[in-house]
Parts: sequence; C-alpha cells; structure tokens
Amino acid sequence: MQYVYSLPASPSFVDKGLVGYDFGPLNQKDVEIIYIDAARGHDTFLISKRVVRIYYILAGNGHFTIADSRYEVCAGMLVEVPLRTEYCYSGKMKLIAFSTPRWSGGNDTFTKWNPDVVPWGNITCAADDGSWLTQLARSRIFGKSPLRAYLRLNQRLWNKLPTTVAALGLTRSYGSFLHGVARLDGVRIQDFSTHFFRNRPQLELIRRLAERRTKGDTLKVAVLGCSTGAEAYSVAWAIRSARPDLKLTMHAMDISSLVVEVAKSGVYSLAGSPLFRLMTDAEFVELFDRDRDTVTVKPWIKEGIDWSVCDAAEPDIIDTLGSQDIVVANNFLCHVDDSTADRCLRNIVRLVGPNGYLFVSGIDLDIRTRVASDLGLNPVQELLDEIHEGDPSTRNCWPFHYAGLEPLNKSRQDWRIRYAAAFQRVSPTEADSNSSKQRNETDMLSLVSES
Ligand SMILES: C[S@@+](CC[C@H](N)C(=O)[O-])C[C@H]1O[C@@H](n2cnc3c(N)ncnc32)[C@H](O)[C@@H]1O
Repeated sequence: MQYVYSLPASPSFVDKGLVGYDFGPLNQKDVEIIYIDAARGHDTFLISKRVVRIYYILAGNGHFTIADSRYEVCAGMLVEVPLRTEYCYSGKMKLIAFSTPRWSGGNDTFTKWNPDVVPWGNITCAADDGSWLTQLARSRIFGKSPLRAYLRLNQRLWNKLPTTVAALGLTRSYGSFLHGVARLDGVRIQDFSTHFFRNRPQLELIRRLAERRTKGDTLKVAVLGCSTGAEAYSVAWAIRSARPDLKLTMHAMDISSLVVEVAKSGVYSLAGSPLFRLMTDAEFVELFDRDRDTVTVKPWIKEGIDWSVCDAAEPDIIDTLGSQDIVVANNFLCHVDDSTADRCLRNIVRLVGPNGYLFVSGIDLDIRTRVASDLGLNPVQELLDEIHEGDPSTRNCWPFHYAGLEPLNKSRQDWRIRYAAAFQRVSPTEADSNSSKQRNETDMLSLVSES
C-alpha cells in the first residue's frame, strides 16, 4: 500500500491562469489533493453542487471572491468554500486544494469568466452582426438568457431523438439552425485540451504523405497551437515510425508559454490525465518510458522538435518558421471570433509551401470553405470521411456547442470542400483554376437556392 506521494513531475492539468498537480489517486477514495501553482488565478467563477473545497495558501497572495464578497488572502490562510456558492480566486499564489468527494465531470457549473484571468472573456463573442438574433443572444430576463433556456430545452429533446429521426434532412437543417444559435450565444475561449492520437485517420493521412517522399528527403512540418505537445508527438511518431530515413524538422508552437514548457519537457503525469485515453497499450509502450506515475516521450520521437511561443495570427510567422511541407492547425480557430479565424487561417496558409499540405480542423466550416475557395486550396479527398468522423469530441457536441462539428452531409453540393480537413496548396496557375471552379460551384449553389 502506498503511504507517501511525491509531487507529479508534470502538471495534471494546465488552465489559463494556473497549473495543477494532482496527488494520487489516494487510498482515501473520496478525497482529492491538488497542488496549484496560480500565475493569475482560476479562469472562471464556479459553483459546485457536490464537491466541498478547502484551500490552504502556501505562498503568495491574492483574493477569493465568495458569494459576491471579496476576501484578501496570503500565505498561511485557509479558505473553506461551501456547496452551491459561487466563488473564484485571483492572484499569484501557491495553494493546496482539498476536495471531497473527488472531482468528476458535471460537479461544477462555470458561471462567468474571471476578468483577472480572462479579461477578454465577456467581450469575445461569435458574430456581432447587430441582427435581432444577436440582440436576443445578449438579452437577459431576470438575469437569465432566454436563448440559453431555449437551447437547453432543445438539447433535452434532441438527446431523445431516435437515430433514424436524427438522420433526416429536416432534423439536420434544424440542427444547423440550433448550431447557429449556439455559435451566437457561446462565449469563445481558448482551452488547452488535447490528446495523443486525437484523430487517427488524420495521422494515417500524414503517414501516407510521408510514405510518398523519396528516400532520405527532408520533411518540414509545423504544428500550430500545439498545447502540451500530444499532437506534435503523435505526428512525429506517425512520420518517424513509417519513414525513419526521412529528415524530419518539426516546429511546434503555441501562444501560451505555460503549455509550451510542458510540451518541451515531454514529461506527463498519469494521475487523472485524459491525454492518453485514446491510445492502445502497445502504442503507449512505443511512445513512452514510464517511471511510476510519470511518463516521458521516447528520445527517438522527441529529438529535433523545435518548440516556441508564437501567435499563429502574427504576419511574421512565415519569417520565423519558413515554408513547410505539412502545416497542422487544429482545434484553436473555433475559439476565436469569425473575422479573427478568417484572418488567422489566411496567415497560416502562407506557411504551406508549394504542393504542401494544410491540416485544419476545429474551425467553423463556413470560414474554412470560404478561405480554401478564395485561396484555391485543393481539398484532399483521401480519407475525407474518416478524418471528418475521426475526433468524436467535436462531433459529439454538435449542435449545442459553438465548436461542435456538423455531421457529414453528402447531399450538399459543396461537400467535397466543406468537409475536407486536409488541403493541398497547388501552384498558382492551378490555384486560379481551382478557385474559379470552386467559385462557379458556389454560384451554381446560390442559383439553386434562389430558384
Ligand atoms: C484546444 S488546444 C488544441 C491542441 C491541439 N492542436 C489539438 O488539436 O489537440 C488549442 C491550443 O491552441 C493554442 N492557441 C490558441 N490561439 C493560438 C494562436 N493564435 N497561435 C498559436 N496557438 C494558439 C492554445 O493556447 C491551445 O494550447
């Protein structure tokens, strides 16, 4: 039986304003002890229905806001947060949090952003087009959003729909309408969630592209928005295990220095981490060296990856990273407003060298389709269906979350471009003809819908 626990070598979770290290699981199953290194504080206000939390401040100072009252705290103080009470904390502090029972999904309700950590949280919104629907999304009756209530009611009914009804064209159209509403209502916020082998068919396509290179070639890959590194390491594994002869140069970057530090170390704690849940045991053994509750990415996968803190929207990333054979930009453009996503994607495309490939998922499909059409990107049809279905986390939250991915609908005339998540950047002349072909298709579609 284990009596003594060390601090995990790497964080169990990384949030916008703090890093958490989960001890255990302890023998005492209904207690969880977390060491929190807060740079700015907890990103949201929360109310817990079941978990009682007690915080001991080890170092630093800041404040807790509990039931609308502010309490200054410093090292040596203890804070007890009762059930069903809204609270949050801010400040540069090191804390120990005792939770009983252990946290599990659904225990907490996040009520609003903490402006000390996410100052832009309450103003970053989907599409502020001034329409009646946007006005409705902003309106409150007795402090509650009518649109959110409408979505909640629909969600309850939606979850009960038989599969045959859910697949009907009419139901999908209504789903698209609901998704539009969810996109208006949803406050956009970046998160760091990631998994090893998150989209297997996408890794398979990358592997096939590597297979097609000539012996000893250099393959230049950039992984943007790499979070704590799972995606970059998965891609490096796919390429290096298929083609050890290739000279792989990989740039992996993220806007947050917190996650880049974790990614660079390649060290992860097993305790409570969802990072590995999509891996088989054999893959786990192939990727990691394990020492009790800590794993380290094997040197043959890790070597030569260049990690940096960088904003994918910065026009000078092309000077920093240079032109690439494969650019991966997944699951971060859905978390910004539409015009930023559009601008950022156009900037990212500049990184893709001639005949190179762009992988971009986790972005609004209208924006992706428009940018790909405008820039004459060639949608890759190989494994298109499989890649679209390859990441259940985005598929399952449609239509009620702004980042949800709509089901593939082959009755749409534009499906080959709309649902492609991989694109080839072809030469300028080919691009011109692609672009006009795609524009013609779009014109045809608008004629069809007008008639
Ligand atoms: C949800 S995670 C996705 C991680 C990984 N790409 C995946 O698909 O599993 C989004 C990451 O993108 C990063 N990010 C957001 N905006 C960015 C930007 N403009 N430039 C670079 N990274 C960004 C966030 O910090 C976060 O780590």
